[in-house]
Amino acid sequence: MTPSHHALETVPADRLSMPDFAGLFMRAYSDYLVPLHLDEAAVASMIRNWDLSLADSRVVLSADTPVAFACLAIRGERGWIGGMGVPPEHRGHRLGEVAMRAVLDAARQRGLARVGLEVLSGNDIARLLYERLGFEATRMLDIWSLDPLTGQARPARAIETCSVVEALSAPAPGRAPEAPWQRAAASIVNMQAHGAPLEAFATHTSGVIDGVVILARAGGRASVLALDAVPEATDALLAAASAGMPLRYVNVAEDDPHRSAILERGGRVDLRQYEMCWRP
Ligand SMILES: CC(C)(COP(=O)(O)OP(=O)(O)OC[C@H]1O[C@@H](n2cnc3c(N)ncnc32)[C@H](O)[C@@H]1OP(=O)(O)O)[C@@H](O)C(=O)NCCC(=O)NCCS
Repeated sequence: MTPSHHALETVPADRLSMPDFAGLFMRAYSDYLVPLHLDEAAVASMIRNWDLSLADSRVVLSADTPVAFACLAIRGERGWIGGMGVPPEHRGHRLGEVAMRAVLDAARQRGLARVGLEVLSGNDIARLLYERLGFEATRMLDIWSLDPLTGQARPARAIETCSVVEALSAPAPGRAPEAPWQRAAASIVNMQAHGAPLEAFATHTSGVIDGVVILARAGGRASVLALDAVPEATDALLAAASAGMPLRYVNVAEDDPHRSAILERGGRVDLRQYEMCWRP
């Protein structure tokens, strides 16, 4: 029997046990456009790092079976959709829209001023769903990868390690655009608080910081979390971040001033995402 033959009930996501919620999340993303390799620990760390509020997130039940969910993260007056989906066997009944409408009601009740999200450029079914709900595209975000970098472009620069806190509080020398949710300062602080092995590097001119990079190394790859530098310092920071490992830099705004330095080092755009925004 299809879910539409049962009365649907929408409940806060914290009504489910953690294994049940993580299982729903994993099944909904099991055939995602990009393989995610999720397990319960990965879902738990997304909840912590991104400030997902399970009390404000919603799960759709059909005869007590979870059939759809939408996750809401909250920081002050801002919200962000940190995952939504329907397991493959329950699709075709617009249950994703039921979950999204419920989570936007929760956002309204919480008095949020806006709710953001990102959707992969090939994920038309999800993007059209968001448009139906009133989300508007704000900018394009690129997912970059670079082969291992060796050496710096000339002139070489002195690079020093620094603390993540120092890097986060450095003045913005390159005026990097507003960071997307997953790489925002609050996410980086959460990652560090929960023991993620983060590294940071800085470069100076006349004793003043004019470039910083923050990254996480895992699985033989370095993931850039923040990069902000004057143009002359960008290459040296990328080289320090790579330290011989392939680099990944996720959700970089298309007008990011570091784009040309990344391209010069052979950076490739693997995927593009629409960043979208909804206001009550
Ligand atoms: C996005 C998702 C939740 C939609 O599932 P759903 O709620 O069951 O949606 P439906 O299958 O009922 O489809 C909704 C509408 O999109 C249409 N649609 C289906 N495939 C489509 C496609 N490839 N392109 C455009 N429209 C499409 C359907 O026809 C339907 O419209 P209709 O009701 O007028 O026929 C589901 O595909 C999913 O879980 N995907 C994996 C996780 C994911 O991508 N999450 C979003 C991350 S941003």
